Amino acid sequence: MERAADRAAAAYNLASDEFDVAPLALWGHAGRRTVEGLGLAPGNRVLDVCCGTGSTAVPAAEAVGQFGSVLGVDVSERLLALAAARAAEKGLANIQFRCADLADLRFPKASCDAVICQFGIFHFADMVAATKLLWSLVAPGGALAITTWGPRVHEPARGAFWAAVRARRPDLEARSRPTRQVGTAERLAQVFRDAGAEAAEVASEEITQPLEDADQFWRTLMGSGSRAVIEALAEDAAAVRDEVAGFIARAKVRQLATTVLYGVARRPGPTVAPGRARP
Ligand SMILES: C[S@@+](CC[C@H](N)C(=O)[O-])C[C@H]1O[C@@H](n2cnc3c(N)ncnc32)[C@H](O)[C@@H]1O
Repeated sequence: MERAADRAAAAYNLASDEFDVAPLALWGHAGRRTVEGLGLAPGNRVLDVCCGTGSTAVPAAEAVGQFGSVLGVDVSERLLALAAARAAEKGLANIQFRCADLADLRFPKASCDAVICQFGIFHFADMVAATKLLWSLVAPGGALAITTWGPRVHEPARGAFWAAVRARRPDLEARSRPTRQVGTAERLAQVFRDAGAEAAEVASEEITQPLEDADQFWRTLMGSGSRAVIEALAEDAAAVRDEVAGFIARAKVRQLATTVLYGVARRPGPTVAPGRARP
């Protein structure tokens, strides 16, 4: 049976051609905010799981400086190539990328000052187990940041997309919309608690972005995890695309509204003094 990680790799390798379409720029915005929320210090060691093109890994590398280090891990080779190019463009020598499934990572416990997983936790069938694994890698004084989607993602256009998918392939919605299992601040806080990270704090942010037209929205879907749904729709994809375009025209959709959830859990203990390298 094909593993979820292999499905994700295939979908995101395809999505890499549209990964930076304008409405998806919110990955960069959320990435900067996620890194700010961690309060990283120079010298920190950071692990970024599901790092994609480096939305969080790159600002984290800038924050930890030359004595710090960032390892970005993802299953999509093409997204990792874009991430490496972005890091090289910025002249960052303290960042590395590895193509691997989180489940196969053999990383020493308590070895990271910060662990980040942005818009990735819903890719794991057992999100609590994945969070538990990530939490176990956090050293005393360190933190785990999980950033994910709230109840709205590029609405109202994405709702119209799912309605059109549901009408043709109801099986795809159940299989492809795991973000909903974690899509409220309460549920995200519960995932942290169930994973043993008791005192996690979850903040939410409402983001509104301009939408040019239906074509731009379709490219937004093609550049995201929804690419897997579009591929699975096969010959039904054209009808879904037309239906969504009709909705965007009729409802005069000119904006996309998204809620982003930022969860951070901190492990008690001494923090690394700013400016000091780890031994
Ligand atoms: C929505 S993207 C987010 C990328 C990045 N964190 C960002 O915010 O721009 C989700 C990422 O998770 C990666 N991914 C999915 N399953 C994974 C797994 N089992 N192990 C590592 N990465 C995985 C995908 O390849 C994809 O790059």
